[in-house]
Amino acid sequence: MQANTFKVRVDSIRDEAHGIRSFRITRVDGQPFDSYEAGAHIDVTAPSGITRQYSLCSDPALNDSQLFAVKRERESRGGSRSLHDDVGIGSELLVGQPRNLFRLVKDAHAHVLIGAGIGITPLLSMAYQLAANSQRFVLHYFARSEAHAAFLPVLSQEPFSGNVQFHFGIGSDDLAASLRGCLAGTARGTHVYTCGPAPFMDEVVAVGEATSTIAEVHLERFGADTAVSETGTALDEFDVKVLGSGKIVHVGKGETIVSALANIGIEIDTSCGEGVCGTCMVDVVEGDPEHRDHCLSKAERASNKVICCCVSRSRSPLLVLDV
Ligand code: FES
Repeated sequence: MQANTFKVRVDSIRDEAHGIRSFRITRVDGQPFDSYEAGAHIDVTAPSGITRQYSLCSDPALNDSQLFAVKRERESRGGSRSLHDDVGIGSELLVGQPRNLFRLVKDAHAHVLIGAGIGITPLLSMAYQLAANSQRFVLHYFARSEAHAAFLPVLSQEPFSGNVQFHFGIGSDDLAASLRGCLAGTARGTHVYTCGPAPFMDEVVAVGEATSTIAEVHLERFGADTAVSETGTALDEFDVKVLGSGKIVHVGKGETIVSALANIGIEIDTSCGEGVCGTCMVDVVEGDPEHRDHCLSKAERASNKVICCCVSRSRSPLLVLDV
């Protein structure tokens, strides 16, 4: 769990779409929230005791409250189900500070946001930020039907109405053509941001990478079962050297870097423990990590300068980490 957590109160609850409910929260101590950039997510501990990560979908310029939305998952192990069933107005929840692995690129020429279903949540926050800064953007929202599309009233009004295009009922056979249409005519150097089910995002990446005007496709993955990670060449056992103290700890087969470091008194903050949230990310000074997370960008993986210690391992006998 993240070290820095605090209590919030649920001030309003709204059914945004079929199976999607939003929760507006304020701090119990009456303080404003710390500022955050669009694309950030928070840890939320449900009454069941289960902690999950949810993107903030509020306007990042407003810090008196925060908004997150939750899709009731059929396979829920108590996270989304408990938030839907056990939380009412006035309920108190434990949340963490915002963390962000899905930021807008500041000097991008233009931005295209492409979301599906509950994947609209970080993109809505991005749309607020882009509109406030008068930056060029289009938001494409794919949903099974109007009834499955969250935040329709907000997205249909100013300042978004001129920038949002809805795509309802597009089947998987037609998705690639639809996405090509979304990216046709984009300016050179456009950045694409996508969030939604894994096969949807895979298609956005494939179409984006085949479109010459697109500089990069950025994605937000939640749910370890749906993501792709590197596999295969990591060593069963390796050593980790702590940059500051020079201490070396052995990471055995089946052990994580987090637990090995805990054995020598170094606590790494964790949240999901599955490589999806980025809470346990630390800087790599030396060595060749094998990334088994689901949250680093392609560029971050290629640079080998950061590692998620809860799941990733090493291809070199020694990793030197800045912890
Ligand atoms: S704790 Fe979430 S990525 Fe490691």
